[in-house]
Amino acid sequence: MRVLGIETSCDETAASVVALDGDGHARILSNIVLSQIEEHAAFGGVVPEIAARAHVEALDGLIEAALADADTSLSDINAVAATAGPGLVGGLIVGLMTAKAIASASGKPLLAINHLEGHALTPRLTDGLAFPYLLLLVSGGHTQIVLVRGVGDYQRWATTIDDALGEAFDKTAKMLGLPYPGGPNVEKAASNGDARRFAFPRPMKGEARPDFSFSGLKTAVRQTATAIAPLSEQDVADICASFQAAVTDALADRVQRALARFATEFPTAACPALVVAGGVAANRPVRSALEKLCADSGFQFVAPPMALCTDNAAMIAWAGIERLRAGLADTGGMDFVPRSRWPLDGASAPVFGSGRRGAKA
Ligand code: KG4
Ligand code: ZN
Repeated sequence: MRVLGIETSCDETAASVVALDGDGHARILSNIVLSQIEEHAAFGGVVPEIAARAHVEALDGLIEAALADADTSLSDINAVAATAGPGLVGGLIVGLMTAKAIASASGKPLLAINHLEGHALTPRLTDGLAFPYLLLLVSGGHTQIVLVRGVGDYQRWATTIDDALGEAFDKTAKMLGLPYPGGPNVEKAASNGDARRFAFPRPMKGEARPDFSFSGLKTAVRQTATAIAPLSEQDVADICASFQAAVTDALADRVQRALARFATEFPTAACPALVVAGGVAANRPVRSALEKLCADSGFQFVAPPMALCTDNAAMIAWAGIERLRAGLADTGGMDFVPRSRWPLDGASAPVFGSGRRGAKA
């Protein structure tokens, strides 16, 4: 079985072909990701309209290259899988319409894939992980803990009530004059800083509600930076280190809570696992705190290779394969309209508001 995957939900244009052999072995035949970071750098963040136009310009060539890399023609594939939400709607339209055109011209089925499902199922592609397991998704757009019970069977256990964690890193970087994308630059600056110099808040730590919150921390960073301005290089390093320590501490508290819940709900799970995904999973202090937490709690720590942890199309093609294999390929097909908001767990209560499109988180 071979599936062509397409991903355009944010600032990466990506195409990939993934194959499932007869013995159940998955192989990534091609995986091309074109980052738009340079196009957005001058603005300090992703500009939706620029992103959509950049996707239009690159996507057809990228798909052609992904097919060529995989030595695959459209007649060899079983289906086209494209991210249909959640994300920036301009980019989603570009990817999904392209996928619909290819599906219609080649007579292959179309699978409209939830981007979060792509992240959620990746450890099965990379590590053959068995259900159920816990997923911690920490990216620029999402901060969630999700129970992954099966294909199409997800339960959101925690989400952010305001900013995503990657967003908090990016905004902190911007406030301190560090370049975009902020996360790696905050981590770099923090390595020369004193994490004890500023006692930033640990949002939600110890609270019964399982969710995340980062906007108060962002405000505390801004107030501190304003109070001691002009900032020396050491000040910036100390703020970054103190911010990163607060984030790591708050995150560990929330994750520990979820691990305990998992252990209670699945007492017979032989080897429970926590999977991390999203760009923030690249952060070394965050990663080692989570590794330690898992080791202390008897959980396996699974971190797919970074290229499959951040946005890519192999995870979308793989989600397509999982759906085909599970008999869940009917996703609405050609009638599917891209959704900027699309919770993975449709039954979860909106965090804010109950509008037709659902909560931001
Ligand atoms: O998963 P990703 O590549 O894209 C999506 O947001 O979907 O995540 C990007 C986010 C950005 O906010 C970036 O600043 C953050 O991940 N990030 C990091 C690090 N590397 C990337 N945050 C903290 N430390 C890092 N080393
Ligand atoms: Zn993502």
